[in-house]
Amino acid sequence: MESKNKEATKESSEDFEAYLQNAVHGGYVCMAIGIGLDTGLWQVLCDLDGRPKTAREIADRAGLKERYVREWLGTMVMAKIVNIKEDQPETYYIPEHRIPVLHPRRGKTVTLYAKTVSTLSGVSKDVVERFKKDGPNGIAFHRYSDYEASLAEVRRRWLDDYLIQEFIPTVVGLQEQLESGINVLDLGCENGVFVNILAQTFPNSRIYGVDISQDYINAGEKSAQQKGLKNAFYTCCDAAQLDAAWSNQFHYVFISDSLHDFAYADKVLEEIHRVMNADGQLSIIDTYSHTKLSKNQAQADKLLVRYVSSLMYCLPLSLNYEGSLGLGANWGIEAAVKLLEDCGFESKMQSTPGRSGLHFLCTKKTL
Ligand SMILES: C[S@@+](CC[C@H](N)C(=O)[O-])C[C@H]1O[C@@H](n2cnc3c(N)ncnc32)[C@H](O)[C@@H]1O
Repeated sequence: MESKNKEATKESSEDFEAYLQNAVHGGYVCMAIGIGLDTGLWQVLCDLDGRPKTAREIADRAGLKERYVREWLGTMVMAKIVNIKEDQPETYYIPEHRIPVLHPRRGKTVTLYAKTVSTLSGVSKDVVERFKKDGPNGIAFHRYSDYEASLAEVRRRWLDDYLIQEFIPTVVGLQEQLESGINVLDLGCENGVFVNILAQTFPNSRIYGVDISQDYINAGEKSAQQKGLKNAFYTCCDAAQLDAAWSNQFHYVFISDSLHDFAYADKVLEEIHRVMNADGQLSIIDTYSHTKLSKNQAQADKLLVRYVSSLMYCLPLSLNYEGSLGLGANWGIEAAVKLLEDCGFESKMQSTPGRSGLHFLCTKKTL
């Protein structure tokens, strides 16, 4: 009998089951990696520089209970991340080539991302409620505090390592403008890392951060104060309703990984058009995906995490506001370019150093 779906014939049920098994395996490993970060066990193992130690010695160095540490080491051995030696008692070590990946401060962000699996899964029951026809539409930001905390280090790394060194030079003339003194606006500034780095590096410029969360604004202000910055300014408001006195005041506007989260992204762009001066430039960093789902299939491996985080974070966050556009992280470049055009911007797309996101560099359309 002819199959209803030819695709299905290429894959056996066993292949498919093995594929799912692999996915389950990955989820469990990520949870245990996260525990290693929170307990400081990665730090201890990395500091050993490949020298094997017993569970007792590792637990003592971490100031933790031996029994739990031994259980965790067992999971990491099974996950093929930590190696074991058949000493008496058995000893554990991380091979040296894995240390540059696993180190909690100097390692790769993949280890930090692993932890977001458990922090994001904390809202899965809330998300299920949002699917229900009679359930609420969105989820309030404070429900994501654990997830946000786990992402904060990933975001900070990029800002520390790439913002000044590699990203700013990709915006024509910006470095010189920042040195001589301009007004800059970061929308969805979170805890102000972008604002404070820029304010510190370019003391002649005035850097403004806007976020809808008062907690983030407080954190940004506190950190600016601690650094003694006099040119960092923070406002807690909706980016769709900026200060009436800001018309034509900004030479550069920056939005990183936030436009699709904004409930009223169209109004935000209209507001940017109002507050940006005629020669101003707008940088938007957003997901590099297409608006048509079928066009994204070829890069499913790269985009899968963005799809899941959009389902569980970006979409419920934006739908928490009445009348939200509910874009989701994978609204795609075609929809983004159209919205930018409708709101009076010309945009060109370029890659973002050190990140998979796409950089839309925009100027006001000339009439
Ligand atoms: C995904 S985070 C991105 C943070 C940061 N820009 C980065 O790249 O790491 C989105 C930020 O946008 C803020 N946000 C969401 N809706 C907003 C709105 N309508 N107006 C201003 N900020 C908003 C959130 O509070 C959060 O700090």
